[in-house]
Amino acid sequence: MKILSLKRICGFVVIIVIVLFYFRIINENKNKDNATTTKLVEFPPVEVSDFNKSNIVVAVVACGDRLHETLTMIKSALMFSKAKLNFVIVAEDNLIPSFTEKLNEWKLLSTNEFSFKVIPLTFPTDNPEEWQKLFKPCASQRLFLPSVLNDIDSILYVDTDVLFLTPVETIWKYFKNMNSSQMAALAPEHEDPNVGWYNRFARHPYYGKFGVNSGVMLMNLTRMRDFLWVEYVIPIYKRYKLKITWGDQDIINIIFHYHPDKLYIYSCKYNFRPDHCMYMSVCKSAEKDGVAVVHGSRGFFHSGKQPVFQSIYRAFEEFQLGGDLYQDFYQPLETYLELTTETSCGHIKDVYLKNVKWYVNTNGNKR
Ligand SMILES: *[C@@H]1O[C@H](CO)[C@@H](O)[C@H](O)[C@H]1NC(C)=O
Ligand SMILES: *[C@@H]1O[C@H](CO)[C@@H](O)[C@H](O)[C@H]1NC(C)=O
Ligand SMILES: *[C@@H]1O[C@H](CO)[C@@H](O)[C@H](O)[C@H]1NC(C)=O
Repeated sequence: MKILSLKRICGFVVIIVIVLFYFRIINENKNKDNATTTKLVEFPPVEVSDFNKSNIVVAVVACGDRLHETLTMIKSALMFSKAKLNFVIVAEDNLIPSFTEKLNEWKLLSTNEFSFKVIPLTFPTDNPEEWQKLFKPCASQRLFLPSVLNDIDSILYVDTDVLFLTPVETIWKYFKNMNSSQMAALAPEHEDPNVGWYNRFARHPYYGKFGVNSGVMLMNLTRMRDFLWVEYVIPIYKRYKLKITWGDQDIINIIFHYHPDKLYIYSCKYNFRPDHCMYMSVCKSAEKDGVAVVHGSRGFFHSGKQPVFQSIYRAFEEFQLGGDLYQDFYQPLETYLELTTETSCGHIKDVYLKNVKWYVNTNGNKR
């Protein structure tokens, strides 16, 4: 009897030892996972290698009802640029055929030679469902561009609700002003502390005094990849997910809050928004040199809230590529703006015309 129970006890002890040993191994593996957080996030390959590497690349992400607006942005880029432009359009699947069709048509009409590539929204190859759950697909896509466009050195990223009043080259030149630590260039979110959003409401860190607006962004993708941007974005996103209001722009603000030396700031004339004129005119560089890029953020191109924005959009929308820039664009634009002089943004109507006027005068007509 006694011997039997001793055997039983021995068996029991052996089992306990085995179980403890097993848990220890599991724990060790867990710790190992934590230690390797800089594991590279893999993306499926996207071929854009037929682009001429020395050309300007304009990139945009388009979803939902933004097809027409995006095409109008592309048209505005083609109207004034002399350099050859490459466009990368990252689009929802159902928009891809419409983009391809329209841009092929424009290739025949535009006096400006350009290339384009329309690619689907792209997420890391491992566990795509988890990615789609964690991020709103379209809003987060731009944060992944350094890895998605992994054979492109640099891009000018713009939101779909952006229009160029100046050649794209003028903005692209700022890459030359950036020093070797700067990997992106942006304009401030505000000029005036009394109406600034971040300084009054944000519940997360942000860049500088008033934060930055991410609608017009030069991105040196090579430097962003070297920084391991995508690997850095993911933990930041997980941590601040519930505290952010403006999606990817807030994430960008958080990152540059911690790395201010990596951001170049250009002036508000490169990202001119309703906030710059709706209370009073606060963008001094636009008053002086004219607006270079207009950004109809928060739907202002399509609402009557500040008719200037709707008027500018309308003039671009109605212009047909290959048409007469003075007669078919400048004159209608001037007429539409004339009707807005009673509004707060319309008071300063010459700031919207200045660059276009200069361009038309010095270049004669582009036919
Ligand atoms: C690429 O573009 C540059 C500048 O636009 C031009 O000088 C060069 O000839 C182009 N290369 C090719 C292979 O087309
Ligand atoms: C981007 O950064 C890389 C690495 O520093 C550099 O070689 C490249 O010229 C930069 N691109 C532009 C457009 O300035
Ligand atoms: C680049 O400029 C930023 C901002 O002025 C500065 O903080 C940073 O040290 C500069 N980097 C280099 C390498 O000069």
